Amino acid sequence: EKVIRVGLLGAGTVGSGVIQVLEMNRRQITERVGAQIQLKTVLVRNLAKKRPQLEGYVLTDNIDDIVKDEEIDVVVELMGGLEPAREYMLKAMEHGKSVVTANKDVVAQFGKEMFAMAEKHDVDFMFEASVGGGIPIITPLKQCLTANKITEIMGIVNGTTNYMLTKMTECGSDYDEVLKEAQAKGYAEANPSADVDGLDAARKAAILASLAFNTRVELKDVSVEGITKITPDDIEYARNLGYVVKLLAVGKDSPEHGVDVRVHPVFLPKEHPLAAVNGVFNAIFVRGNAIGEAMFYGQGAGSLPTASAVVADIIDVSRDIVNDTFGRVRCTCYEQKRLCPLEE
Ligand code: NDP
Ligand code: HSE
Repeated sequence: EKVIRVGLLGAGTVGSGVIQVLEMNRRQITERVGAQIQLKTVLVRNLAKKRPQLEGYVLTDNIDDIVKDEEIDVVVELMGGLEPAREYMLKAMEHGKSVVTANKDVVAQFGKEMFAMAEKHDVDFMFEASVGGGIPIITPLKQCLTANKITEIMGIVNGTTNYMLTKMTECGSDYDEVLKEAQAKGYAEANPSADVDGLDAARKAAILASLAFNTRVELKDVSVEGITKITPDDIEYARNLGYVVKLLAVGKDSPEHGVDVRVHPVFLPKEHPLAAVNGVFNAIFVRGNAIGEAMFYGQGAGSLPTASAVVADIIDVSRDIVNDTFGRVRCTCYEQKRLCPLEE
């Protein structure tokens, strides 16, 4: 039986989830791929840390032990941050390995470089978990919805802030306390200001808009406002008027203005479908000229939900390796530019 060997970079919230899903569903994954997926080596920062869940796996703090290992076919990056994640993923592709990542920072800022490297070395670069945690949205945009001209993509794409706003609305929780809760649950970024300042949602909005509108949108093209200025009074005021406060990412493509992408808090009427998206759940609404309206909903952060998307990418890449069909879907969204200038 063929064996696909994986090198994992990072074994925190999502990395541990990936190990758990690969173990929990080993038999059915092997059947579906037609090969065994075997985690060979795990890169961590601190080798001295106790990691009972990693017993039996080879640990290293040296990236060369993974990228230069000729047996390893797939590198899964779950460290987060721009560097050294970007450098390690490029190195892995240079050594002929396909890459799977959940890293929206790198995809939003260096997506073009990543795709170019994948094409050059005829490997896959996959990033389903970079937006919406466990929700399938990247693959639907790359494949299932490509027959459409998409004019609008909008949604709740940050689990931490949605969890915070929900708790502040439903239980009157204190901002700092509820942020700590979101961190303890593993939803927040290593630096949670990326969540509350709206940057994480903006990175996701840039990725979604690039795919939906087939044009290059980077973080700097997105107008961003987070939830740091939302007060209990705003939430109470919204409630009294029949609204809820949500942090929305909104992308529109119109013939008059081109592509316009924003992230900001809004007052949503209680009857709006997105008003019912609570806690760590995310939802993404898409409007296309053939499908009409479609909505994608699920857990937007957390260990196992995110691992579900990462492992799906690992399975997809493994099938490419088994069937020798790399790079089936070429990326065409990193070329043109039809952007609406940001207001000062
Ligand atoms: P964690 O902080 O929980 O884990 C990060 C892991 O990476 C740790 O094991 C850490 O090692 C390792 N690491 C970090 N920097 C280095 C380095 N320089 N060299 C070697 N190892 C390193 O992060 P998460 O699991 O929460 O997030 C991982 C990625 O997934 C991020 O890109 C995040 O944005 C994304 N993501 C996270 C989601 C979530 O719900 N948490 C959901 C969707 C995407 P050590 O253990 O030694 O510190
Ligand atoms: N910090 C992110 C969130 C993780 O809260 O949505 C999922 O990308």
